[in-house]
Amino acid sequence: MYLGRPPWDTGVSPPELKRVLDEKPAGRALDVGCGTGTNLVTMAQYGWSVVGMDMAWLSVLRARAKLQKAGINARVIHGDVTGEPGLDQTFDLVLDIGCYHSLSPGGRKDYVSNLNRWLKSGGCYLLYAHRKDSDGAEHGVTDDDLELFKAFLDQCWREDSDERRPDGGGGRPATWACFVKPKQT
Ligand SMILES: C[S@@+](CC[C@H](N)C(=O)[O-])C[C@H]1O[C@@H](n2cnc3c(N)ncnc32)[C@H](O)[C@@H]1O
Repeated sequence: MYLGRPPWDTGVSPPELKRVLDEKPAGRALDVGCGTGTNLVTMAQYGWSVVGMDMAWLSVLRARAKLQKAGINARVIHGDVTGEPGLDQTFDLVLDIGCYHSLSPGGRKDYVSNLNRWLKSGGCYLLYAHRKDSDGAEHGVTDDDLELFKAFLDQCWREDSDERRPDGGGGRPATWACFVKPKQT
């Protein structure tokens, strides 16, 4: 898809991300499936120190170029979020816009275990995912998929939408969900 301009690559960060950035003090953020880095630039502009990761080489190269052009010094890793991408940091915010929903069941299990490792206690996980329930598409999440995160995260809010969105939803029903990892006592 990155040989051309994929439909989700709008160059605009969604308001749901900006709302979280408005509410949280800046820290360290990881964007899993970061695409061409639009949201890395936005988070950095809010004062966050950012790391991106994507398995598509072309998107990684474009993200690095976009960050450089914006004068932002950040690491963009070419890696698989379901594997061992050589990331030993922990983060105050993990963002996923459109990556988790495309993973296989096995990949989702590995992703969840990586997420648990990468997210600091007290850290926030913000997810945008297409929903599978209504149209029988191959990718997407069900309510049960979203419930899985509650095994180790507390859900702060969830918003479902059936409308065409400017952030790449492409008319698919989609869900935003925000979780926080409980602080250890
Ligand atoms: C729908 S795109 C969204 C990109 C970006 N988050 C955005 O909002 O523009 C999903 C991205 O996830 C990446 N991706 C999918 N599976 C992945 C995996 N297992 N590891 C890393 N990246 C993955 C894809 O290459 C693609 O760039």
